[in-house]
Amino acid sequence: MPFEPRETDVARRTFLKSGALAALAAPAVLSAQSSPNERLRVGWIATGSRGQHVMKQMYLESKDVVTVTAVCDTYQGNLNLGKDIVQTNEPSHAPKTYVAYRDLLADPNVDVVFICSPEHLHFPMAMEAIKAGKHIYLEKPIAHTIEEGQQIVDASEKSGKVLQVGTQNRSNKLYIRAKQMVENNDIGEVHYVRAFWYRNFDPKADPAKTTPAAWRYVIPPDANPENTDWLRFLEGADHKNVAFSKERYFQWRNYWDYSGGISTDLLVHQTDISNFVCNRTLPFSCMASGGIYQWGPAFDDDRDVPDTFSAIYEYPNRFHLNYSCYFANDQYGYGEQFLGHDGTIEVMDRQNLHFYPQPRFIKGHAPFSSKPELHLNNIKDFQQEDATADHVHNFLMAVLGREKNIAPARAGQIAAIPGHLATLSYKNGHKVYWDDKMNKVHYS
Ligand SMILES: NC(=O)c1ccc[n+]([C@@H]2O[C@H](COP(=O)([O-])OP(=O)(O)OC[C@H]3O[C@@H](n4cnc5c(N)ncnc54)[C@H](O)[C@@H]3O)[C@@H](O)[C@H]2O)c1
Repeated sequence: MPFEPRETDVARRTFLKSGALAALAAPAVLSAQSSPNERLRVGWIATGSRGQHVMKQMYLESKDVVTVTAVCDTYQGNLNLGKDIVQTNEPSHAPKTYVAYRDLLADPNVDVVFICSPEHLHFPMAMEAIKAGKHIYLEKPIAHTIEEGQQIVDASEKSGKVLQVGTQNRSNKLYIRAKQMVENNDIGEVHYVRAFWYRNFDPKADPAKTTPAAWRYVIPPDANPENTDWLRFLEGADHKNVAFSKERYFQWRNYWDYSGGISTDLLVHQTDISNFVCNRTLPFSCMASGGIYQWGPAFDDDRDVPDTFSAIYEYPNRFHLNYSCYFANDQYGYGEQFLGHDGTIEVMDRQNLHFYPQPRFIKGHAPFSSKPELHLNNIKDFQQEDATADHVHNFLMAVLGREKNIAPARAGQIAAIPGHLATLSYKNGHKVYWDDKMNKVHYS
């Protein structure tokens, strides 16, 4: 059957409604059915790089069901950029602007909030938003620690509101196709997944224009303590007594206080999609290893988090995930390879899917295979870079009671736990175990 994106889009929605996700995630609570003309009033918390991207993607596919009434950011430059995106897409009104997210949450004209803040702020912001009775789109990882994530899951499931975690690969047509192929038994039993994310950077690049080293994003030249609220940034951070630092504020991924590094920034996407495609949940052990091999002192770089990282997971019922990430060579890009006894499905760069059958050997015959190879290349819909427009649309449709959301809090927590396990294993220098019954980590 030829691959046809629009048909698959329909298939996705049918698939969501079919209840096929039941094993992966707790059911979302659907709102009452809405009228077709209803517009959701959206408040936006954090309009940095991801916040701006998600907002544009929301307008791409869901313009007719939203109006952004409020925007909040602690850096004036990004607050202005967020407001500009709203006014470009909704010229008839200006959103209210806030520096304190609690003030936005108290705004009676906000039904739904998007939280696109740095990782350490997800917990206080999500908990306050649940308390305020909002539906929430929460960027991944769900939280900075396992315990915080669990509290968000508990509060969200009691709230009766929709919470969607920003693990948008679940809304990517190629992963949905891969999942269907695994369910169809196209590659036979799958016991092994290889996932990787490789990047590289040019240290001679001008840091005012581009990124010269992993996660050393451009710092806006005008940023200063007056237009950047450092104390509000530090809410939720392990250490509060830290002097204002532009690097920490704008390049927070490099520091343990605000980020789990590769484990929670990148790996969670890939453990999540491996679960999704192979119908798995949590591993029972993780062993991780790596270091700062490229972007450390030689570049006068004070990062805490590794730039070279591998993690090996064992799951119940004979399943193994082999993960690697390296920030000094991007030859092999980004991908997941699902290795079954009868074939391989590989999704590369989130836009190419390849299926290779395993040849069968019978004595006296040339190797043969019963299934043809399949290659689906450059599959993008709505000019999306990464399926975010579909993921946001699914969230909004769930709030309106028309769909079931594909990445509820519990699925976000199941995606994040392996990331946290990898950080704990790396920091402790040995294997860690997940006790699913007790819902906690142990070290032997
Ligand atoms: N799903 C994905 O593929 C994906 C991709 C990139 C980033 N993300 C996630 O998005 C989130 C944001 O990442 P980013 O790259 O946009 O970071 P960023 O640094 O570019 O933006 C963060 C924004 O938060 C603002 N901020 C900081 N403290 C705040 C506070 N107390 N109140 C309000 N605003 C505050 C900053 O001023 C900044 O504008 C992270 O959780 C990240 O993991 C997800």
